Amino acid sequence: MANKTSNQMWGGRFAAGPDAIMEAINASIGYDQRMAAQDIAGSRAHAAMLAATGVINDSDAEAIREGLLTVLSEIESGTFQFSTALEDIHMNVEARLKELIGEPAGRLHTARSRNDQVATDFKLWVRDQLDATEAGLLALIRALLGQAEAGADWVMPGFTHLQTAQPVTWGHHMMAYVEMFGRDLSRVRDARTRMNECPLGAAALAGTSFPIDRDMTARALGFDRPAANSLDAVSDRDFALEFLSVASICAMHLSRMAEELVIWSSAQFRFVTLSDRFSTGSSIMPQKKNPDAAELIRAKVGRIFGANTALMMVMKGLPLAYSKDMQEDKEQVFDAADSLMLALAAMEGMVRDMTANREALAAAAGSGFSTATDLADWLVRVLNLPFRDAHHVTGALVALAEKKNCDLPDLTLADMQTVHAAITPDVFDVLGVENSVNSRVSYGGTAPTQVRAQIAAWQERLG
Ligand code: ARG
Repeated sequence: MANKTSNQMWGGRFAAGPDAIMEAINASIGYDQRMAAQDIAGSRAHAAMLAATGVINDSDAEAIREGLLTVLSEIESGTFQFSTALEDIHMNVEARLKELIGEPAGRLHTARSRNDQVATDFKLWVRDQLDATEAGLLALIRALLGQAEAGADWVMPGFTHLQTAQPVTWGHHMMAYVEMFGRDLSRVRDARTRMNECPLGAAALAGTSFPIDRDMTARALGFDRPAANSLDAVSDRDFALEFLSVASICAMHLSRMAEELVIWSSAQFRFVTLSDRFSTGSSIMPQKKNPDAAELIRAKVGRIFGANTALMMVMKGLPLAYSKDMQEDKEQVFDAADSLMLALAAMEGMVRDMTANREALAAAAGSGFSTATDLADWLVRVLNLPFRDAHHVTGALVALAEKKNCDLPDLTLADMQTVHAAITPDVFDVLGVENSVNSRVSYGGTAPTQVRAQIAAWQERLG
């Protein structure tokens, strides 16, 4: 274990050990132990490469390999004793390896530094999160497609400014989120491709004079290639920042959807009923069924945005290459990743389980003069009015309906002709919401034919 007076890993030139405050500010083991599996994978790849290139002998490499497996199983079973004096996961693992196998453990750090080690471990950890995000997004997209398919032709009001605008279909609304989360999916994949270069072998900052094989370690750890510049390799945290920015945009989408679920599940809207599994009750008001999961998703995005900003602040202005500031990269990313995974899973569960109230959606679709644009378009198409005039005439008809306290289809032909004498009875065809949505067949429009085509395209894409 650690020497009481000076650190066994770097204490050669030190006469005294650190002050307790120094130890407290310096230690990262409290959180970077989450990268234990990645650290051991990196060390195993490094040791195997050192043996293959003749830098260490095979029996030492074998002792290291077996020792590392023991360390991993101790960590996984919870028996490992983490030490703050040993600062971080790298030195904790190496010190335990020394206890287990003795002298060969000291050869593992040949041609390596904690700088390339931590960059590698952290990249592997973030890469796993990108993979988990991809899986979470795919599950959510599938749940949305299920909802869209079930209600491809159900009518509901479409909103702008949260005011009734034009009727749309439930399927169309669900598919809007599929597009949003689909872009998140493509950003995740794009970030993963770009980040997949291995820092290991960059050593402290300048590379090494040992005859290492960086292609071998890169391959062993599932990277596409070794990072090409050793200074950049140890000081690059773009991969973590890209994860956080991808996560932020995705979280922003999640919060928008969460907000709609909060509104839609209210007694005033009743557009959806959330399942009991994804709702909570009130301890005082027996009638309540609260959309807590949606509210927490809406709130959790703040932590993700915060992490993104925090890491930007850590990295800004840092000179090349490694600075200890960069140890502050991890906690934020860990917290943001945990929040994102939970939010994605909760959203998927809510979407999968929720019931759209077809009747309430249809009733709302027909109110608020939602087919006024269809009426204006009819005046253009049939009476050949310029659109601006048609807009004006329609406005007068809406005002008339408002005065009579009814909706547009409830006006009589005579009522309408007081506003414009040339209006004919077939105007009523376009005032129904079904006709309205069925007519919007332009590419990407809300007509069920369009929606079904988009659903099919996505199902094909997802395979
Ligand atoms: N715990 C450190 C970190 O997270 C590891 C790298 C330490 N490197 C150093 N030169 N002190 O960044």
